[in-house]
Amino acid sequence: MAAADRRVALITGASAGIGRAVAIELARAGLAVVLAGRHRERNAAAAREVRAAGGHEDVHTIDLDLASLASVRAAAAAFLALGRPLHVLIANAGLAGVRGLTEDGFELTFAVNHLGHYLLTRALLDRLRASSPARIVVVASRAHYRARRLDFDAVRRPARPPGLAAYRASKLANVLFAAELARRLQGTGVDAYAVHPGVIASEIWREIPWPVRPAITRFMRSVEEGARPVVHVALAADAGVPSGAYVEAEGPRAPSTLATDPALAAELWRRSAIWTEADARPVAGAAAGGRAQEEVPTRGVGT
Ligand SMILES: NC(=O)c1ccc[n+]([C@@H]2O[C@H](COP(=O)([O-])OP(=O)(O)OC[C@H]3O[C@@H](n4cnc5c(N)ncnc54)[C@H](OP(=O)(O)O)[C@@H]3O)[C@@H](O)[C@H]2O)c1
Repeated sequence: MAAADRRVALITGASAGIGRAVAIELARAGLAVVLAGRHRERNAAAAREVRAAGGHEDVHTIDLDLASLASVRAAAAAFLALGRPLHVLIANAGLAGVRGLTEDGFELTFAVNHLGHYLLTRALLDRLRASSPARIVVVASRAHYRARRLDFDAVRRPARPPGLAAYRASKLANVLFAAELARRLQGTGVDAYAVHPGVIASEIWREIPWPVRPAITRFMRSVEEGARPVVHVALAADAGVPSGAYVEAEGPRAPSTLATDPALAAELWRRSAIWTEADARPVAGAAAGGRAQEEVPTRGVGT
């Protein structure tokens, strides 16, 4: 298939776990795949795997550290500079159980799991609209049910470990973001969904000390199983649910009461726009200085 005929997917956090499994399935389905990640070597290694398993060479990588708004802007510009359409955006990258503040002054989990994805998506919205029909899949979590509130002050200070409160809040933000995207994109041919992949034995549990980690992960599902609902929602001719829905492996499910509050979703959008200066500083394609690493396969050398 000629590159121009392929549908194109961009996946964040495809160097490992569910994201890598999703990338492989999308490549197998014939899509061109762009892997966006923060560790160039891990990203390149994953791209080699995706090429080998996907059966074609239209696989590329882009540098993206979601903990840095500057990096997110550069990554969006790098994607736009590829000159390709965008049919599927998978906002997958995520972390849990960490403590820290980003260089921009945001709680690390919230910054990576929500805010970076917010800015990336905003910067790519025109390309998605121009490529419609297109879908945005935000990899959320059942953990959002346990978020008791979205504390907009807490996102400006480091989380208190070892609890998962920051993770739960970030996953609530994921579900709210998908719903708000769906509302704002109505009639554009771009749909948005939040998907819970299942409880999956991935690297996300790395902060849990040995021997607890292997003891719990052995009862979890594989990353391939985790990829399944994400790929289904991304590719199925009929996603089977309206845009904005929250979907689990077993099917669509009503999200938490908080996650269905349109006022909260609108407020999260408004604040995210201010925090990221998304309205004031649109990413201007290649002019924004992003650099795509075109992963031209060279028989295993340096890709
Ligand atoms: N595993 C589960 O049981 C489970 C359940 C519900 C939802 N989820 C969601 O599924 C998604 C994928 O998680 P996973 O389980 O596959 O975890 P994982 O194996 O730890 O993979 C996470 C991915 O995110 C990337 N990432 C982390 N921080 C990043 C940053 N600052 N910038 C760019 N990329 C970054 C990682 O890249 P590096 O290689 O650079 O670390 C990696 O590729 C997450 O959104 C998670 O919340 C997982």
